[in-house]
Amino acid sequence: MTKTTPPSIIALDGPAASGKSTLGNSIANSLGYLFFDTGIMYRAITWIALQHDMDLRDEAAVTSLAQNAQIDIRPPSKSDGRSCDVIIGDKDVTWDMRDGEVDANVSVVSAYAGVRKALSEHQRRIGMRGKVVMVGRDIGTVVLPEADLKIYLDASAEERARRRYDEIIARGEQSDYDEILRKVIERDRIDSTRAVAPLRPAEDAVIIDSDKLNADQVFAQVMELCK
Ligand code: CDP
Repeated sequence: MTKTTPPSIIALDGPAASGKSTLGNSIANSLGYLFFDTGIMYRAITWIALQHDMDLRDEAAVTSLAQNAQIDIRPPSKSDGRSCDVIIGDKDVTWDMRDGEVDANVSVVSAYAGVRKALSEHQRRIGMRGKVVMVGRDIGTVVLPEADLKIYLDASAEERARRRYDEIIARGEQSDYDEILRKVIERDRIDSTRAVAPLRPAEDAVIIDSDKLNADQVFAQVMELCK
């Protein structure tokens, strides 16, 4: 049973490319809530570190970057599939967050305890204001354990890789399914075996396996849970 109706704080966790952003966006829009994708913050730190040619194995340097970085996340200024604008300095870097190099390195950066502490304190402050759908890996377990509704959205690695592949092709870019599948599996492995805040469902999360469900069906199931 949820604590408020509709639930005010909704935590949405799950592995890479399980459809969290699509689902989170639809729920937030239909309830008039803020949609907050925490993965963007880990991606932004990774991107800045790569831009500065930092050694990503240098935990102290990457942590200090996370503590001091000025990342601005704003409502979307364009309808090109983005859920928000990501501004660093005065540059719109929204799509840079999705490039292959960030994908390949973000799990290393997000495994650092100091990075997680800096970013999750910020996320928690925003989440505790309520009327929010917060998406990530550890929202129900660590960032907002008091969330009124916790969803863990899962799907097989093959299905998730296929969706990511379709997304990239739809943007008019080149893609390689086998390569994506390999990277998805590797990112899942690092995310779920790290010492701090590993990817796993909260004990009180509702687990939804979306392998045989389309986006509308998943949305309908979650909206039922919001009643
Ligand atoms: O969109 P996708 O599911 O591929 O990834 P994302 O949500 O943008 O997250 C990128 C990476 O950030 C994940 O693989 C995790 O390593 C990390 N992350 C995290 O550790 N904790 C979060 N709350 C969100 C993301």
